[in-house]
Amino acid sequence: MTMPEAPDPVSIRRLYGRAQGHPLRANAQRLVDDLLPALDVPEEGPLSAQSLFGDDRPLAFEVGFGKGEHLAFQGALHRDWGFIGAEPYLNGVAGLLAEIEERGLTNVRVHRGDAIDLLERLPDASLNAVYLLHPDPWPKARHVKRRFVNKGPVSLVAAKLKPGGEFRIATDHVNYMRHVLFTLQDDKRFEWTAETPADWEDIPADWPDTRFAQKARKLGHDVWRLIYRRL
Ligand SMILES: C[S@@+](CC[C@H](N)C(=O)[O-])C[C@H]1O[C@@H](n2cnc3c(N)ncnc32)[C@H](O)[C@@H]1O
Repeated sequence: MTMPEAPDPVSIRRLYGRAQGHPLRANAQRLVDDLLPALDVPEEGPLSAQSLFGDDRPLAFEVGFGKGEHLAFQGALHRDWGFIGAEPYLNGVAGLLAEIEERGLTNVRVHRGDAIDLLERLPDASLNAVYLLHPDPWPKARHVKRRFVNKGPVSLVAAKLKPGGEFRIATDHVNYMRHVLFTLQDDKRFEWTAETPADWEDIPADWPDTRFAQKARKLGHDVWRLIYRRL
């Protein structure tokens, strides 16, 4: 008798990071109270560009957007696209809301919570890009399963990206960078687009440093950018 194949484990079923830091300042609290309800992703049901933006525009998704500076940058760069960001950290959500208000963006939707829960609700082959910038590195061997770049989440990203869509990953941890290369090198669903060292060391015009990237550079650390294309 052959055993049925076990499904890929989705390694991050629990959130481990902080849900909130210092108490919100008055303006941040105003944004959470007044702007978030208008931009919040609905709690249940399938998601799509149609359901979120009322048309079939290209869609992109950021996992763990931190304070949201990259997501807001992309939103301003591609005003005809729709962007979805997931981040459990309330102070980060408030940061993104401030950027959205300042830039007058109408094409960003926000989820305070786990990216995996949201990705699962999107139709397959619906995303043009997924951004994973400076994911928590979980450097200890016993915590490796908590990394976002693991079989389950990577399969989810592969399922949700359109053919030709990009999975962009940035990290300043050399071991995480190696882990990404190792995990994705034999994955037939993706190709690494880098052809020369400049492709992963230089800062492309459409990919600004995030807060974590800036912190890393200040400490003299390298920042690596990896672009995988969905085949
Ligand atoms: C090291 S920070 C990087 C933040 C930001 N991307 C940057 O580069 O400045 C990692 C972020 O990922 C968020 N995070 C961790 N697991 C997550 C998950 N499953 N879904 C969404 N966000 C997650 C954390 O709350 C944290 O804000």
